[in-house]
Parts: sequence; structure tokens; C-alpha cells
Amino acid sequence: MPPMNPPQTALELPLSRAADAAPLQRQLHARLKHAILDGRVLAGSRLPASRQLAQALAISRNTVSAVYEQLAVEGLVVAGRQGTVVAALPAPGVAPAAPPMPPLARRVLPLSAAPVTEHGPAALRPGEPALAQFPLAAWRRALDVACTSGSSALAYGEPSGEPALRRAIARYLGVARGVRCVPEQIIITEGAQEALGLCVRLLSNPGDTAWVEDPGYRGAKAAMRAGELRIVPMRVDGQGMLASAENWQARPPRLVYTTPAHQYPLGAVLSAARRLQLIEAARAHGAWLIEDDYDSEFRHAGEPIAAMQGLASQGPVLYVGTFSKTMFPALRLGFLILPPALLETVRPPLAAMLRGGHRLEQLAMAHFIDSGQYVRHLGRMRRLYRGRQQALRAALAQHFDVPHSIEGGHCGLHLTVRLPAPFPDATIAGAARAYGMAPTALSSFALAPLPTDNGLVIGYGNTPPDVYAPLLRRLAQLARQVAP
Ligand SMILES: Cc1ncc(COP(=O)(O)O)c(C=O)c1O
Repeated sequence: MPPMNPPQTALELPLSRAADAAPLQRQLHARLKHAILDGRVLAGSRLPASRQLAQALAISRNTVSAVYEQLAVEGLVVAGRQGTVVAALPAPGVAPAAPPMPPLARRVLPLSAAPVTEHGPAALRPGEPALAQFPLAAWRRALDVACTSGSSALAYGEPSGEPALRRAIARYLGVARGVRCVPEQIIITEGAQEALGLCVRLLSNPGDTAWVEDPGYRGAKAAMRAGELRIVPMRVDGQGMLASAENWQARPPRLVYTTPAHQYPLGAVLSAARRLQLIEAARAHGAWLIEDDYDSEFRHAGEPIAAMQGLASQGPVLYVGTFSKTMFPALRLGFLILPPALLETVRPPLAAMLRGGHRLEQLAMAHFIDSGQYVRHLGRMRRLYRGRQQALRAALAQHFDVPHSIEGGHCGLHLTVRLPAPFPDATIAGAARAYGMAPTALSSFALAPLPTDNGLVIGYGNTPPDVYAPLLRRLAQLARQVAP
């Protein structure tokens, strides 16, 4: 017969009857479970008979029986003719001070980014749209419309996204961006970031070469690093990414990441000649061009710049779009447009890799576009950002009394302000944090920074003009303080 368990008395201490205490059954279960797992009740020993324990604790026998049954289901005790016996479990062991952790995958070790929420809302952060101006009431109505589609929209959807949204995007992009595609080519993603990750996973293998603009978008580099690609920085000038015939010979890429309408962060437009050269060379070398068209809706000067995809709609261009700037970043909706030639081959892996989700948001977005509200919202925001940029330029001229030159600005939500070398951008950007400002150091966008890659990328999208003067005076003061 198994021995009676010696520390029975501990098991029989009264249970709490306080008003906010857990139900008696749950208390008893937790007490016995911990006693068994901690080794205080030994394997092979017998728990008190249910009647005896019920009496000792002044609870019903059914409660004790229910707890014993639960422990048996969990494999902590075995009920038999000899009563309820504690099961043999592996010894709990002593937890080492710092439990050894299996290492992270090599490909993600170099990745890091300061969380945007780290310092709360911050002024002058690049890439943020005017959140306070977003028409929340209209968006709520669009979500209401989406909800009328009923519970069927709560099931998994098509892996490539809601057909209604893909149709709306195809129509909109044809008119607004000169993109030529049918809805079947569109995959709805969780923002541009997932679209970039998909390009990497679908079209490259670890060790392949990827070209990125330098300075360039850090999110694209992160996606490529996570795919273990060899990243080759390509310099950028006033006509966008420089890629010579020698580059194509010496280090032919599998993927080329570019922001043709508005080079991020310097602001150049990729010239027509370079677009055509890129497309021809990509065709000749079997490379894929990833066109990130993230904020071109907000064109402030001159005619709209059409997408490169429209020049080679049957060619090697993958078009990436996002609603993070035109709507709001937390929406996490973007899209990838595949060349028709890829559709057949990518469908099976995509169907296995993706689950159709965020369906209500996608349906609401489709309604927002189809009802004309999206284009109206864009028009309103374009005027707002144009005014903010003009105000920022005026405030820079008047209050930022440090030598500088301004780059970009024909498009988007930011200006890049170059600084002479004695004003180290990372130190200034770091010091600005303490004053609630988050301009980004230009050098942080470069893989192989030149001395001229020194400056501040200043966002005006989500910062209203009435604070530009004091912020820029403070930035200038910080710049002078850190200069030798
Ligand atoms: C160049 C570029 N591409 C894409 C994005 C948007 O990324 P996502 O859609 O993942 O929010 C940003 C946002 O800052 C960007 O600067």
C-alpha cells in the first residue's frame, strides 16, 4: 500500500472564504497541483481520502472528488483501488540563474530598430501622416458598411485578400499612378513591410545579391537581411539610383529595391532613362525590380510621376504600395502587384503561406475607395502637407541658423536637411529626443555613409506648423552645442 503522504496537514490548511477569493474548487486544485509539482508531495504517496479532506477543509466531498478527477486528467495523480496516488514526475530540478537560451537565427541577429512608441509621440518624426486630421467618423461608417456583410467575413478569406479591395486598388492605381494590372495580380499585405518580405521569400534564396539605394529605406534592408541576402549599397544622385553597366556585370542582383517616384530619404525622382535602363538590365540578367511607391500621392510640385510598373507591366517589376501614409500606419494594409508571368507559379506557395485576414478592414477600405472618400481625403491631405512643407521651409530659413541645404520636397511628408560635417547628425538627433523631437539622422539610412550623408530627415506630416519655430530654434541650438 502506498505510504500516506506526510505533509498532509499543509494540504488541509483552511481555504480562503474572502469575498474576492477564487472559488474553493480552484483554490484546492491550485494548492494540490503546486504541492505535487514542487515535490512537496512525493511521487507514489497517497492523497487523503476525499471524505477526510472534505471534512478537514469544511467543503463538500464532491468538490474534492472533482479536483482529484481534474488532477488525474492532467496526469498528476493516478486513481486506483488504493486511493489517489501521486504520479511519478521528472524531478523539478533547480532553475539555473540564467537559463540557457537557444541562439536566435543568424539572419535576424543584425536586425534592430528603436520602437516608435519608446518616447511617445514625437514631433518631426519622418513618415507619419497627420493623424489628428484623419476622418475617423467616415472610417467608422466604412467599417459599419463592412460589418453589414455579416458573419461570413469572419471566416478565413482568400489568401491574396478581399476581391473587392483588389478591384478597387486596380481601378484606383490605373488612374492615379499609371499602374497597369488586373485584380488577380494584387496581393493584399500587412503594409509594405510584409510585401517586401514576400518579395524576398518568393523570389530569392539565401546568399543571393540584392541592391538597395544608399542612403535608403531601412525597412527594405531589414527584409533582405532577414532573407540572408547579400546587400549591395547603390549610391543615389539627383536622378535616383545609380546603376552602371559595370555594376550589372560585376555584382548582378537577384533583387533591386528602389523608390522611383520619391527616393527615400533624399527625394530624387528616378529619371526616365534610368527606369528604362533598369528594366532592360533586369530583363537581361533575370533580376526583379521592387518598386516601393510609398507616398507619391502627395505630390507638391509639377506633374504626377507615374509608376515605373506602367512602363513594364509585363516585365520584371514588383509594385509595392501601402495605406500607411495615405490612411494611417496602424491600419497595416498594403499590397504587392505581381507581374502576370509570375501568377501561375506563385499561387500554390502563396496559398500555403498566407491566410486571408483583416477582412473587415479590407472591405471597409474597398468601400472607402469606391465611395470616393479616399480620393477626397487624399486631396485634403495633399493641401495640408503642401502648406506644412511651405511653413517648414520658411521656419528653417528663419529659425534654423546653422548652415544647411534642403533636399527633396516635391513629394511626400518629409524634407532632408543636409548639414556640414562638423554638425554630427546622429548626436543631434539623439539630443533632440530629450525635447520630444524625432528627426532621423541621414547617416542612419546609409550602409556605406559618405561624409556628405550627414543631416536630418525632418517629417512635417504629423507636426502642425505652429510649433516649427520653437522646435527649429532648439534643434539649431543643439546642433551648435554638439559641434566641436
Ligand atoms: C520608403 C518607405 N516604404 C514603405 C513605408 C511604409 O511601410 P508600411 O506599409 O510597412 O507601414 C515607409 C514608411 O515609413 C517608407 O518610408
